[in-house]
Amino acid sequence: MGFLTLSSQLLLAATSVSAKWIIPGARWRDTAGNLVNAHAGSVTVDQGTGKFFLFGEYKVEGQVEGGGVSVYSSDDLATWEHHGQALEPIEGHPYISKEDIIQRPKVVYSKGTGKYHMWWHADNSTYGELLQGFAQADNITGPYSFVDATAPLGNWSQDFGLFVDYKDGRAYALYSNGDRKEGRDVYLTSYNENITALDKVVHRFDKYDLEAPTIVQTDKSYFALMSHKTGYRPNNVVAFRADSLSGPWSQPFIVAPLNTRTFNSQSGFTLRINGSAKTTYLYLGDQWDSISLWESRYIWLPISIDESRKSLEVQWHDVYDLDVKTGVVTPIKGKSYYAKDATVSGDAFLQEASFASHGVIATGIYGNDSKVTFSGIQGSGKPQWVSFYYQNTDDMGFGDQPGGTPDRINGTWQLRRISSVVVNGKVEEMETLYQRDTHKGIVLSTPLLLRLEKGGNNTVEIGGLYNGQDFKGADVDRIVVYEPEE
Ligand SMILES: *[C@@H]1O[C@H](CO)[C@@H](O)[C@H](O)[C@H]1NC(C)=O
Ligand SMILES: *[C@@H]1O[C@H](CO)[C@@H](O)[C@H](O)[C@H]1NC(C)=O
Ligand SMILES: *[C@@H]1O[C@H](CO)[C@@H](O)[C@H](O)[C@H]1NC(C)=O
Ligand SMILES: *[C@@H]1O[C@H](CO)[C@@H](O)[C@H](O)[C@H]1NC(C)=O
Ligand SMILES: *[C@@H]1O[C@H](CO)[C@@H](O)[C@H](O)[C@H]1NC(C)=O
Ligand SMILES: *[C@@H]1O[C@H](CO)[C@@H](O)[C@H](O)[C@H]1NC(C)=O
Ligand SMILES: *[C@@H]1O[C@H](CO)[C@@H](O)[C@H](O)[C@H]1NC(C)=O
Ligand SMILES: *[C@@H]1O[C@H](CO)[C@@H](O)[C@H](O)[C@H]1NC(C)=O
Repeated sequence: MGFLTLSSQLLLAATSVSAKWIIPGARWRDTAGNLVNAHAGSVTVDQGTGKFFLFGEYKVEGQVEGGGVSVYSSDDLATWEHHGQALEPIEGHPYISKEDIIQRPKVVYSKGTGKYHMWWHADNSTYGELLQGFAQADNITGPYSFVDATAPLGNWSQDFGLFVDYKDGRAYALYSNGDRKEGRDVYLTSYNENITALDKVVHRFDKYDLEAPTIVQTDKSYFALMSHKTGYRPNNVVAFRADSLSGPWSQPFIVAPLNTRTFNSQSGFTLRINGSAKTTYLYLGDQWDSISLWESRYIWLPISIDESRKSLEVQWHDVYDLDVKTGVVTPIKGKSYYAKDATVSGDAFLQEASFASHGVIATGIYGNDSKVTFSGIQGSGKPQWVSFYYQNTDDMGFGDQPGGTPDRINGTWQLRRISSVVVNGKVEEMETLYQRDTHKGIVLSTPLLLRLEKGGNNTVEIGGLYNGQDFKGADVDRIVVYEPEE
């Protein structure tokens, strides 16, 4: 299959970095150079040391479910050290075997038991059980031992979230109660004092049919973020606001620029950073790759909150620095190069586009002899992040529905726009650029770490790559070249 070939190609082309900057959508690597493997992740701050611990679903190529829960630690939320499996699948176990679903893990410290408690969405492979799993460990990194998998106050439980109120330390579970007609709610339910079981329902978000819930708490407000249910396809994440967890909660509102589908990501967790200069809120989303789940990316972005308007917005930055001590977010400067100044060859051409930069977009990058070339690019001689702003019009199909919208290959939705990126004609160092579908007229970006030569005479050439059916690159609006990190 063409797609597997591409995956192997990607591994070879991947560059090893341990960045201090946060680059949403990049291929994140840990301190050992491996892909950060903690999908649908959550971050727990160790109270003693202030260290951040990232827990998430461990996924490898070819595996369907039950990879267990991996754990990483970091002092800066950008450099991640792997500590192996916090929760290891056990063969033949009724709830945590490799055939079971272990999704959206969260970890919280229980003062009462003196242990770390892990909770997650526990299920079998057909989502027929709809339970919440519970495991415990003495050490934050584990190993966690399985305690139980239960139905929350007797109900069903699907996508799972956990929230701790910083004002009183009380913990709450958030969960959608599945897709059945009687379900389609999201529950907010308090834990008992020891966080060993659920206590009582605090609020039910009735029949909105949302999932992937998380709560952001400010001094004045609670904002509950959730995504719509579109499987692994991204959608416009919404938030509700309230003064108190029991409500009344506001109408839901969209948290990112309309039709960016939350910058091609799904909600899952949010983190409050109590910095010395300011309190910063981070959105920790997933950019799923529905065919190669193990290759899914992380979209972590600052959230801007406007209490007077009772609103919040997730803010895009291609590359940013987050000082976890002060809480200050600094976007990194970049220089833009526009399609209107690029040269085209083969079937590629420049087309009028009212939504694009300078009203022009490069399109028709079909087949690997059709290219768009940006010239005169200033480089530093050191690895630099380059963001590719693109439009992929193959949008809006749903993989599980029959029929043939354009973004599907043989009835299955998959990533169709893939480009080659070649710097200064060095074909042997070609990088592969995945360009996930966007709405028509919506331009999003995706990054690569490139080596440009020092000086202003670099070229970046973009061509179409094989996607399993044909050669098609997305339309290119511009590229932005960022300063090197040192
Ligand atoms: C919390 O857990 C501790 C340790 O197991 C136990 O001694 C205590 O009774 C528990 N508290 C409650 C309220 O259940
Ligand atoms: C999952 O659990 C449900 C409910 O017990 C059951 O009907 C279904 O057959 C199970 N699926 C698998 C794959 O065991
Ligand atoms: C807890 O885990 C950390 C990181 O793996 C390790 O350095 C430490 O020794 C462990 N502590 C205990 C008490 O096992
Ligand atoms: C779960 O809650 C819904 C309402 O939110 C209710 O209609 C349904 O019967 C409950 N299911 C179970 C198994 O308790
Ligand atoms: C925030 O941090 C300051 C010290 O920088 C501390 O005094 C304060 O209690 C913290 N607030 C919360 C809610 O954690
Ligand atoms: C370019 O396309 C041809 C087939 O049209 C293929 O044989 C060749 O491998 C492709 N080159 C790259 C770099 O993908
Ligand atoms: C700029 O690069 C081109 C090849 O891309 C080369 O032909 C040309 O000589 C270079 N110019 C300078 C001033 O280095
Ligand atoms: C699509 O389906 C056809 C007919 O079943 C098959 O010949 C072809 O290889 C498939 N293409 C892909 C990309 O899977």
